[in-house]
Amino acid sequence: MSNDILTHVEAGVMTITLNRLDRKNSITSAMYGAMADALATAASDPGIRVAVLQGHETVFSAGNDIGDFLNKPPAGMDSPVFRFLTGIANFPKPLLAAVCGPAVGVGTTMLFHCDLVYAGDNAAFSMPFVNLGLCPEAGSSLLVPQMLGYHRAAEALLLGEPFMAEAALEVGLVNRVVPPTEANGVAQAAAKKLAAKPISALVETKRLMKKGQQQLVLQQMAEEGKSFSRMLGEPAAKEAFGAFMEKRKPDFSKV
Ligand code: COA
Repeated sequence: MSNDILTHVEAGVMTITLNRLDRKNSITSAMYGAMADALATAASDPGIRVAVLQGHETVFSAGNDIGDFLNKPPAGMDSPVFRFLTGIANFPKPLLAAVCGPAVGVGTTMLFHCDLVYAGDNAAFSMPFVNLGLCPEAGSSLLVPQMLGYHRAAEALLLGEPFMAEAALEVGLVNRVVPPTEANGVAQAAAKKLAAKPISALVETKRLMKKGQQQLVLQQMAEEGKSFSRMLGEPAAKEAFGAFMEKRKPDFSKV
């Protein structure tokens, strides 16, 4: 059993830790599967009232593991990555995140499904899908323009430019910026506070806040998923991923 995803339950809080530091917490399909299973347990187990996603104080996640994506491209809504994405979009209880260092691709897009996000002042958010010959995922083509406004979303999604913790705070993607060594602890303290509240009231309040566009988010996610899977096999993504593996600059002049 791999230790790339660690789960820990204490006092009604399930903490899911990305623990693959040598690969910058990039996420394989096995890791998506483990996180999807953990979220399903957290959603259904009455003893768990809150879930927290966290990485390391130096890196949250480098996004999809590129080699794994090439070898095992996601196929359909049953694939581990889609199970994880629908798991976070449908998670009925409070979902928190503590983010430090790089949060690339899904490392950023998953945060749009979290209720509270705490960032280390070293957090760097980026969604470089276009630079990889891909399109956004996790409902981000809907949620990013909604939160950032269209032009800032275009900077993030078309130019693929990173933005730092203070900018994320300004647009409302994160609740608080703290020193990296404190981010996980601050998220745990908030989770503990939430776990002491009546779960029925938390669940109903979250449901009401989200219900206006829940279906829309899931539809967008499904459409993005189809495009993303198709684009993974196309020349632009092949060039981008090949360049990453060969540690060279991609050449998109022919795609
Ligand atoms: N998939 C697979 N391996 C990855 C990875 C990913 N997404 N991100 C990093 N790694 C690997 C690197 O290839 C490197 O392997 P090596 O030691 O065999 O050379 C190792 O993890 C360390 O990464 P490195 O790039 O040296 O770390 P860094 O601190 O200089 O930079 C990042 C960290 C996250 C900024 C950088 O690794 C990065 O941009 N990664 C790719 C992100 C990406 O495009 N993700 C896909 C989104 S869909």
